[in-house]
Amino acid sequence: MTSRPDRQPEQVDLSKPSAARVYDYFLGGSSNFAIDREFAREALQIFPGAREYARLNRMFLQRAVRFMADNGIRQFLDIGSGIPTVGAVHEVAQAAAPESRVAYVDNEAVAIAHSEIMLEGNDNAIIVQGDMRAPEELLRDPDLTALLDTSEPIGVLMLAMLHFIPEQDDPAGLVERYRQLLAPGSYLAISHGTDDDLPEITALGDLYKNSTNPATLRTKQQVTALLQGFELVDPGIVFTPEWRPESPEEVGDDPQRSVAYAGVGYKPKS
Ligand SMILES: C[S@@+](CC[C@H](N)C(=O)[O-])C[C@H]1O[C@@H](n2cnc3c(N)ncnc32)[C@H](O)[C@@H]1O
Repeated sequence: MTSRPDRQPEQVDLSKPSAARVYDYFLGGSSNFAIDREFAREALQIFPGAREYARLNRMFLQRAVRFMADNGIRQFLDIGSGIPTVGAVHEVAQAAAPESRVAYVDNEAVAIAHSEIMLEGNDNAIIVQGDMRAPEELLRDPDLTALLDTSEPIGVLMLAMLHFIPEQDDPAGLVERYRQLLAPGSYLAISHGTDDDLPEITALGDLYKNSTNPATLRTKQQVTALLQGFELVDPGIVFTPEWRPESPEEVGDDPQRSVAYAGVGYKPKS
């Protein structure tokens, strides 16, 4: 997505920076406003690796979707999908199998507006405005159920979004509710910001307290606990570039630079 929004979609809160728009800035997109760019520049001063974090996270997204497609998944649900950029779930999934169906979900107005534009003309991909914290409601959404068959396996993604769910909203309990609702044979891919041994990331987390999306960074153990109940696909919970890399260059010398853990859980068929 490269076009700058020429008008502000309804319900856009410009009083605070938003995670979706700041992330778009890190990825080099232009679906962001002055308040987001100011915040992102401050974030880059605290942690210059923020762009690399976003890039490595998007590469994990693409590998996770290819992995699910290779394992027969033909319908995907990307929750907290953000502002679509090149290499989005439907592009990867439909390149692997053109009949793949993809529902995106986000609760941010600019992300919704841009997704609508990007998905125009694609009968097998939609964007639904919804909140991750209402699993039953989301999986009953009429637009979503018109596209996805929830009685069949779905590849679900919650990438770089669970750190926006605070403990008081019980992220592990929410993920467990999704696990129960999903058909056996489904997958859930997650990635999650961490400040394990990374003091500058703690400072970055403090900065996000002033945004629309305060962040809760978690340890490897806490991220692993989010997938409790799922079978962990090899290699388990690792830094994003370490999850089934397609070349040694992707991992590089310092996978911790990704400042995020990633993993894929499987709900077995029996
Ligand atoms: C950093 S972006 C990640 C985008 C994409 N998943 C990726 O990994 O490239 C996080 C997204 O999560 C969305 N988000 C945060 N809390 C949410 C919630 N409770 N329900 C739905 N979306 C949410 C934000 O609006 C934002 O678009």
